[in-house]
Amino acid sequence: MDIAVFSTKAFDRQFLTAAAAGQHELRFLEPRLTRDTAVLARGAGAVCAFVNDQLDADVLAEFKSLGIHLVALRSAGYNNVDLGAARCHGMTIAYVPSYSPDAVAEHALAMMMALNRNTHRAWLRIREGNFELEGLLGFNMRGRCVGVIGTGRIGAAMARILRGMGCLVIAHDPIPDPTLGVRYLPLEELLAAADILTLHCPLTPETRHLINPAAIARMKPGVMLINTSRGAIVDTPAVIAGLKSGAIGHLGLDVYEEEAGLFFEDMSDRMITDDVFARLLTFPNVLVTGHQGFFTREALTAIAETTIGNVGAFATTGRALHEVPGSVGKA
Ligand code: NAI
Repeated sequence: MDIAVFSTKAFDRQFLTAAAAGQHELRFLEPRLTRDTAVLARGAGAVCAFVNDQLDADVLAEFKSLGIHLVALRSAGYNNVDLGAARCHGMTIAYVPSYSPDAVAEHALAMMMALNRNTHRAWLRIREGNFELEGLLGFNMRGRCVGVIGTGRIGAAMARILRGMGCLVIAHDPIPDPTLGVRYLPLEELLAAADILTLHCPLTPETRHLINPAAIARMKPGVMLINTSRGAIVDTPAVIAGLKSGAIGHLGLDVYEEEAGLFFEDMSDRMITDDVFARLLTFPNVLVTGHQGFFTREALTAIAETTIGNVGAFATTGRALHEVPGSVGKA
């Protein structure tokens, strides 16, 4: 099948080409998928898209008019897809439900530990010949109470890692996992009890701005907040206010509400015009990474293999191996 791959980076080229093993025509397109770029898929049998590609009703209508019936997401999240429009157009949306939960959980842990022990600041100091310890004081993880919001694949991996470090892990999820051995609490109680909060729920209408002024007011003063899930789960101006007041003591973000058009690009010779994002970068106790939780060799191999598996199955049976729940069938 001829696959139009949007938002292509060198690593997509490398891992998808290896997984396709010459069985599909891969057309690598660097532009992000938007209403303006959708037409670049003309002639393809399927589209392969990533987290910040725009798959709204207009884009899906354009694909339908181009005779494309499959969008294979190379991501676990699908909040960027208008599933109702996909159903209307009889379009199959395939995804990669699980590729390496540990990759994201381990990145969340790396952010926690860097913020806790001020590794990001120590690195800068040492390069300047400053070996002063003042301001770098951290805390032991053993015995700390960590609240995991969302204990699906990634949240469960996170909980296991944290338990191994001797943390007291509490959790909130509408569908608790009794095998995880953690205590589930209502969200309000979890927010009030945790020294560290780590977000692993999907972005849905219910979780949009889950971390808002009211939620922050319930948290322990000086709490550490880590978001490796989706940016819009956090109300960014609210956390900036929380950082300024000291209500939030540390903030680690691998995702940002307005990351599309910013993350995954080299912006080093341009000005950042997003004042909210620019303000975040001024805090010494904020660590931002550009959506790299998934970025391990193991995860990229699994993403590429599942994506190609989805396309191959669709080409032969008309059904992808992993279809986004609720995306298939007529509306
Ligand atoms: P999953 O579907 O296995 O687990 C999500 C869990 O969240 C489920 O247990 C679900 O019941 C729970 N949940 C749903 N609504 C909730 C709510 N209101 N409060 C608390 N929990 C709720 O998904 P998985 O694989 O663990 O991924 C989680 C999220 O991580 C994805 O949706 C995606 O947004 C993000 N992600 C980020 C990556 C990165 O590179 N930073 C890479 C991969 C995923």
